[in-house]
Amino acid sequence: STNTLLILPGDGIGPEVMAEVRKVINWFGENRGLKFDVSEDLVGGAAYDAHGVPLHDDTMARAQEVDAVLLGAVGGPKYDDLDFSVKPERGLLRLRKEMDLYSNLRPAQCFDALADFSSLKKDIVAGLDIMILRELTSGVYFGEPRGIFEEGNERVGINTQRYTESEIERAARSAFELAMRRGKKVCSMEKANVMESGILWREVTTRVAKDYPEVELSHMYADNGAMQLVRAPKQFDVIFTDNLFGDILSDCAAMLTGSLGMLPSASLGAPMANGRPKALYEPVHGSAPDITGQGKANPIACVLSFAMALRYSFDQGDEATRLEQAIEAVLAKGLRTGDLLGAEGGTPISTSEMGDAIVTALQES
Ligand code: NAI
Ligand code: MG
Repeated sequence: STNTLLILPGDGIGPEVMAEVRKVINWFGENRGLKFDVSEDLVGGAAYDAHGVPLHDDTMARAQEVDAVLLGAVGGPKYDDLDFSVKPERGLLRLRKEMDLYSNLRPAQCFDALADFSSLKKDIVAGLDIMILRELTSGVYFGEPRGIFEEGNERVGINTQRYTESEIERAARSAFELAMRRGKKVCSMEKANVMESGILWREVTTRVAKDYPEVELSHMYADNGAMQLVRAPKQFDVIFTDNLFGDILSDCAAMLTGSLGMLPSASLGAPMANGRPKALYEPVHGSAPDITGQGKANPIACVLSFAMALRYSFDQGDEATRLEQAIEAVLAKGLRTGDLLGAEGGTPISTSEMGDAIVTALQES
């Protein structure tokens, strides 16, 4: 079967880091027989400049067809004064919404060579490899009623935490599928002690777990979860949680491992006809206008996003591990883009030198 990939470099450092991912994709094609049918298109400000909209309908249609979309970053000062309806972010939001990407995966993975970089003690994070799965399309950010209303002689601001059983169930299934490819543990986090949606979350997750007897399910109140994430993060494999708690817990987990330039993400939706989930992979960072065009951007977050695509869209978990180990090898040699240069020193290198070093490490693997 062919592997179709749509690349949307976007704005700012997006095209710079994506050029390095291209080198990696080519390496897998030439050396591992992994052929990708790659198409490239515009998103964000780049699409607005060309078409007057941050995502062309043709691009949207293509995104719906391919096995995976890989996106760089969108936005930048040039577009700050645009009307909200055509802002670069709207291109990304449209992709997420129309592809109905309800599972957002954020790994917190600590490369040994960067353990000193964490906000926490080295022994707490060394070797850390956990994944937070956040439900992305429902919950308190979307529930009705919402708004600011008059109530007596003052106003009241209202948001509603609302989850249907089917919304919880489909996200829970992706959490268990994920755990099957990893450490076979799911820790579900909610507040069933004080929230009705939490009671339903726990009930549905427990029911879905019966279809995955190999996976060990545990439950934790989300506030305790935040504490445990900082106290002893290695106890977790997959953390499964809702939109609001996941927003907070994933930002917290991100800081366990260091730089924004190292963090990948995936957003997955329902399985397509070929069994692969709808999928969008992107680094967590933005377009970094302050360093655009200077060869300073760290491409690793985007390369790791491609590694996630290898694992979750193309069923190439071993090749994904090969790529992650190549990155570990590069870091172990002391090679560092600017964002990774800390007190312990290292050899400063550019964006393209980092891409080349990763390819060299792949060659040596
Ligand atoms: P940002 O993530 O672009 O940058 C924050 C800081 O981290 C900057 O100092 C930047 O130089 C640094 N940084 C980010 N990625 C890096 C990398 N790969 N290597 C080295 N250093 C890196 O966030 P910021 O500055 O708040 O937003 C800039 C623009 O990006 C805005 O227009 C914003 O709307 C957009 N943005 C887009 C996102 C996306 O496309 N998913 C996400 C976040 C922001
Ligand atoms: Mg956030």
